[in-house]
Amino acid sequence: MARTILITGGTHGIGRALARHYDERGDRVIAVGSRDADLSSLAQTRDLADRVSAEHPVIDALVLGAFRYQPRRIETEEGFEATFALYVLSRWLLAVSLRTSLDRAGRPVIVNLCGTGPGRIHWDDLQLTTRYRPLTAIMQGARAGALLGAAYASERTRYVLYNPVFVATGLHRPFRQPVRGIVRAASALFAQPAAEAVPPIAALIDDPPAERLTAYKKGKPIKVDADPGEAQRLEELVRSMAGHPGHAGRAG
Ligand SMILES: NC(=O)c1ccc[n+]([C@@H]2O[C@H](COP(=O)([O-])OP(=O)(O)OC[C@H]3O[C@@H](n4cnc5c(N)ncnc54)[C@H](OP(=O)(O)O)[C@@H]3O)[C@@H](O)[C@H]2O)c1
Repeated sequence: MARTILITGGTHGIGRALARHYDERGDRVIAVGSRDADLSSLAQTRDLADRVSAEHPVIDALVLGAFRYQPRRIETEEGFEATFALYVLSRWLLAVSLRTSLDRAGRPVIVNLCGTGPGRIHWDDLQLTTRYRPLTAIMQGARAGALLGAAYASERTRYVLYNPVFVATGLHRPFRQPVRGIVRAASALFAQPAAEAVPPIAALIDDPPAERLTAYKKGKPIKVDADPGEAQRLEELVRSMAGHPGHAGRAG
């Protein structure tokens, strides 16, 4: 039976390869890119969730893959640091807004394509107003994904954190020379083609894990490190930010 799969970041890289895979299998694929909705905007994320759930009362899989590397700190119109907005807030909002549609599916799953490294939450300055570095923002976002995955409340929908590790998707593009050339060369030598990254991700979508929250690195299970107290604290903060656009995100 055809399933319904929503893929954010479904117009490029790993998301696009996954979209092609499920499209070829005859599933209903909703592939969202930046032209369809600016998911660094909470309003547009909410709008997308409303439209998708109205059209598709049952969603079998939600793949969270929309991402943009931000070399400099920029703020969205709603007042959030852009990496935090796209990588954390929007992903959390989509997951919670689509919970009812997901929970109606036979074996629903959320796959959060993310890093799984040793990032930390900058509780005193979530928006990195004073110490923005692209990698700091990315690592905080990945850590937030693990915590918000742990806080995601559903008896039915499984939550998978998936780190694809090094996939050739044009990772060199945001950089200037000479880094651009180095990343391009490293990518040509060591990165996996996007189509090759698909099978282990598709295996998790087709046969979701029994555990509520799991993490994988290039198809191999890894330990999930998510303190429940931290998870709840972040969930409450993110919920209040999403409810009050423009919140500064300073937890004190
Ligand atoms: N590639 C890797 O080696 C690697 C490693 C670790 C983790 N990951 C994670 O895997 C995920 C996918 O990575 P990728 O390399 O395949 O990505 P990618 O090729 O750079 O594609 C990014 C996707 O996100 C979409 N997007 C960007 N900004 C958006 C916005 N504001 N609103 C809506 N959509 C937006 C893009 O849409 P348009 O093209 O339409 O602009 C595109 O479809 C990311 O979360 C990344 O952190 C990747």
